Amino acid sequence: MTTRPIRIAPSILSADFSRLGDEIVALDAAGADYFHVDIMDGHFVPNISFGPMVMQSIRKLTIKPFDVHLMIAPVDPYITAFAKAGADSITVHAEAGPHLQRSLQAIKAEGKRTGVAINPATPLAAVENILDDIDLLLVMSINPGFGGQAFIPHAMEKIRQANALIGNRPIELEVDGGVSADNARELATAGINVFVAGTAILGGNDATTYAPRIAAIRQAANSRSA
Ligand code: DX5
Ligand code: ZN
Repeated sequence: MTTRPIRIAPSILSADFSRLGDEIVALDAAGADYFHVDIMDGHFVPNISFGPMVMQSIRKLTIKPFDVHLMIAPVDPYITAFAKAGADSITVHAEAGPHLQRSLQAIKAEGKRTGVAINPATPLAAVENILDDIDLLLVMSINPGFGGQAFIPHAMEKIRQANALIGNRPIELEVDGGVSADNARELATAGINVFVAGTAILGGNDATTYAPRIAAIRQAANSRSA
């Protein structure tokens, strides 16, 4: 089994949106590896966040990768807009439409890294046939739509199975929802290398806490057992 490098990806959904630019700059300085950008349409998920124009406006504030999580359906009509707005990877939900492989081809055609997310109720079988088309697999450990929800315990076993399914393929394994320094070690041991965290990093929106919180998740993840 390959050991993928640990990446901490703050979810800017938990940012203070009245100071969004400052939050990006603070997270960058605090050691974020990726920026996790949550896009919600009020249709695929019961919440609305922001779109490509907002994303484009914050893109210039950091050179770190934007890990864009599209919780929208249909998704294909918007892939180009998010690519142009500066996404580095674009993750679509397996549940978002009937032609997942077509969506992945569209992301590839934009020259971006491809990701697929699966909701808690979606079996891993949904991605078995497209493993050669993805750079990233996102296992949702909450039902998407909101930050601050509790980690769904069953996700841990699904992550172990996802890790085995990936095998030696060059695919990052990402978790999103209820992630903190308290479960990062177990998640890393199960195979996670990309840790999305909203509340655990940005809760309270005090920039002086960001670096120690990112470091705590990273340290817990790096203490994974082989
Ligand atoms: C929710 C989003 C998450 C969210 C995670 O649908 O996909 O990225 O921000 O928030 P926490 O870390 O608070 O569970
Ligand atoms: Zn997300």
